[in-house]
Amino acid sequence: MSQPLDEEDIVPKKSKPSVRARADAIRPFVCKNLIAVIEDPSDVKNIGTVIRNVNALGVEKVYVVDPRKALPDDWQDMRERPSLSKTSVSAVKWSFVKRFDSTDDCFDHLERKNFHSVVTSPHVKGKCNIYLHEGDFTEHAKLAVWFGNEARGISDRALERSDACVAIPMFGMIESLNLGTSSDIVLYEVTKQRRLYQSQYRLRNKRGKRATPLPTVMAPEQSSL
Ligand SMILES: C[S@@+](CC[C@H](N)C(=O)[O-])C[C@H]1O[C@@H](n2cnc3c(N)ncnc32)[C@H](O)[C@@H]1O
Repeated sequence: MSQPLDEEDIVPKKSKPSVRARADAIRPFVCKNLIAVIEDPSDVKNIGTVIRNVNALGVEKVYVVDPRKALPDDWQDMRERPSLSKTSVSAVKWSFVKRFDSTDDCFDHLERKNFHSVVTSPHVKGKCNIYLHEGDFTEHAKLAVWFGNEARGISDRALERSDACVAIPMFGMIESLNLGTSSDIVLYEVTKQRRLYQSQYRLRNKRGKRATPLPTVMAPEQSSL
């Protein structure tokens, strides 16, 4: 099998009942059409951390721009790779992960599927810079949020092909947060906004308003499954 296509690939029908119950409980909270992209990460630990954050926060997929070919092409091989399994605390088993050879390949794929992209950086870069708390991350039905390399940050090419550059405000002497931490903070805000949107509307452009909004957090008895 090359890439996962649907939930059945991730949670097979023959899974234990407790696993199926958990998969059923979290399904309504997953943010549809939201992808986190990691551009050319150098450290597998950071890939694992982002996959863990993505899984925990209910982001639908992770794409990795992987020009050094650190990851296998086949998703099953990726799921079984010990370094990814360990660093993601097994989240790689439960998350869609797809690799690309280059930034342009990833953008071409996203744009073919009508995804808009925003990149993240601690620096003012690119044509439209916003602070995280100022952003409306529900504007586009399909959204990819990009994170850059640990040393070089987001590439000029990714900046050129994206709509906006998002910064987490910083107040210290250091230049940046680390990749794992910034993915956590950014994706928390983005998923919070998109889950609220999904709870209120069934369709894009604020169409299909629900008579009663769906919950945006799990009931306590479900969250301790
Ligand atoms: C360690 S930082 C890279 C620092 C690098 N020297 C640079 O110029 O961006 C790795 C990635 O974490 C994210 N990041 C770190 N701090 C951030 C911040 N304050 N706001 C938004 N993203 C941040 C960005 O995606 C960045 O590319």
